This record gives sequence, C-alpha cells and structure tokens, in this order.
Amino acid sequence: MKDQVRSNWSNVALVCRKCSKKLDGGFGPGGGERLAKALRKHLSLKTGRKAAAGVLEVKCLGICPKGAVTVVDGAASREWLLVRPGADLDELAETLGLNASEHP
Ligand code: FES
Repeated sequence: MKDQVRSNWSNVALVCRKCSKKLDGGFGPGGGERLAKALRKHLSLKTGRKAAAGVLEVKCLGICPKGAVTVVDGAASREWLLVRPGADLDELAETLGLNASEHP
C-alpha cells in the first residue's frame, strides 16, 4: 500500500480564508484580489502538489486581526504573519520562502 505522495512544494503558506473574505480583495496590481490568489499569480504558481510551492486558503486560524490576513509559514510555524492590504508581494514571498525557483 502506498502511504506517501510526493509533492514539488518547497514550502507552504496557509492563508486564512475568512480574513481574506472580510477584506474583500486588497492585494494584487489593482488591489482587487484575495491574498492567496494574488500571491500565486505574482509568483506564477500553479495550484496543486505539482506547483513549486503551496499557497492554501484554510479556515479561520483564531486570530481574526482587524484589517489584515493571518498567514502561517509552513517552515516557520512559530511566528504567524498578519498581512495588511497592499503588502509588497515580493517581500512577502521572500519572507515565506516561496520564490526560490519559479520567480522570473
Ligand atoms: S478570520 Fe482569519 S484568523 Fe480568524
């Protein structure tokens, strides 16, 4: 029986879906996108396990900051990030260790 599945993810970022919904956009070039989508687009990341990194929306993480989105870096899970609208996506990707191989 196969009990492992390989992925290409160098890291994974868990983005609170509920925070993202509450902000109703706030990220990306026109400021109209949700953080996870804007981040994936910015880094040309596909979805699924064959992408170079994972950016996943997850349910409420219990922080519920006002005017920000809670993000957990899978490789540094002891410090959670509260990302404000309009955040620099290059900087964020760098912090999250997401742009190692795919970023142009
Ligand atoms: S709504 Fe995002 S942490 Fe609760």
